Amino acid sequence: MPKKKLQKEFQSPKGMRDLLPQDAAFWDKVINVGQELAQDYGFQKIETPLIEDAELFIRGTGETTDIVSKQMYFVKTAGNANLALRPEGTPGVARAYMENGMASLAQPIKLFYYGPMFRHEQPQAGRWRQLYQFGLEIFGDGSAVLDAQTIQFCFHLFRQLGLKKVNIQINSLGCPQCRPAYRRALLDYYRHRKEKLCPDCKRRLKENPLRLLDCKEEKCQPIKTQAPASVDHLCDDCRKHFKEVLEFLDELEIPYFLNSALVRGLDYYTKTIFEVFWDEEGASPMALAGGGRYDNLIKDLGGKPTPAVGMAFGLDRIVDLMKKEQVKVAQGPNFKVFLVQLGAAGRKKCLKLFEKLHQAGILAAESMSRDSIKAQMKSADRLGVKFALILGQQEALDNTVIIRDMQSGVQETVPQDKVVDELKKRFKK
Ligand code: HAM
Repeated sequence: MPKKKLQKEFQSPKGMRDLLPQDAAFWDKVINVGQELAQDYGFQKIETPLIEDAELFIRGTGETTDIVSKQMYFVKTAGNANLALRPEGTPGVARAYMENGMASLAQPIKLFYYGPMFRHEQPQAGRWRQLYQFGLEIFGDGSAVLDAQTIQFCFHLFRQLGLKKVNIQINSLGCPQCRPAYRRALLDYYRHRKEKLCPDCKRRLKENPLRLLDCKEEKCQPIKTQAPASVDHLCDDCRKHFKEVLEFLDELEIPYFLNSALVRGLDYYTKTIFEVFWDEEGASPMALAGGGRYDNLIKDLGGKPTPAVGMAFGLDRIVDLMKKEQVKVAQGPNFKVFLVQLGAAGRKKCLKLFEKLHQAGILAAESMSRDSIKAQMKSADRLGVKFALILGQQEALDNTVIIRDMQSGVQETVPQDKVVDELKKRFKK
């Protein structure tokens, strides 16, 4: 007998997943809170394509960053266009700012966005290849107050989501004026300790010395803690800017930690950078949000010099934490009545009644495909609705409907064209 060919079982790609209905309330909550808060802070929504010219990320995010050199998804097209799935939102939003003439509008331009990003990383807890971010970007203003406002937004957001154990870490990376001197000091320091470094750090020493401070390898930690700090090499302008940011945060009573080893994994940052971590005993801190100032990105992408600041938070990690911390979210719609139908005529009338109730703003649950009255009454009970509306063969003929009070069990028959008024009267009571 020939062997029956087994059907292939499809699975979502590695590091990617379905966002299931049971989690939808959490996702909606984070997006709604983020969106409302962003609008309160004067941000407007923007959506950019999921795919962009790969060069935008190579020049924007940075050629030597892990995100670009190791994690980008390149997209093959028939025309051989050099496209990539966006690994992060900032370069695309900066491109949109330039392409759509936003530079000629009143500045600053404050934009927010959310959606999937793609990074070909090794999947692990809280690390996905299709990850979701919510981001803010402010273009056209270099004031320190906007850096502080971006951090204030994060602080506000996490509080509103009921996530209190966050810790904000902040640093300043300086600007093209002062960074070369810092880079030299860092290289000088690390070159003298080269033999003790991990292979990755030896590579970073050549390609991207700032990232040396990001190393998590045990053997590099003692070297890292003694490394020169960027804040000790800032020019007057950067020092003044950083001081102002910290003063604003103090005024707002937002707690933060100065972390001289904070560097971020993207190349465009200048001056302020920050990251928001979740602290859990016995676990290494998890980054929930990150951002900073990037005053040279627009210029590096071919635009006029335009200061900018922004941040993004990871929706996947926040949703997981909210579930773990048992944050309460509203689950599904709050149904007021349940439509119980019996027989073909009853079902037809019920379909119509459902529409009428919907128009009157009365949320009605139903189970139109079910035949059994018992099963339908059970569903009504489970949902905790106040009334069941029962429409059988007889009621369909008489143009009536039975209103059953679910708590007392008392039933009353009313004409179908009076049922909305009758329900409204009862809800008022
Ligand atoms: P980022 O630090 O690369 O910054 O990402 C921001 C947040 O996205 C992280 O703090 C983390 O919560 C989440 N995230 C990153 N990678 C993953 C992953 N593989 N799985 C799950 N969550 C992840 C940016 O992307 C910048 N565009 C932020 C920014 C905006 N800077 C200025 N403006």
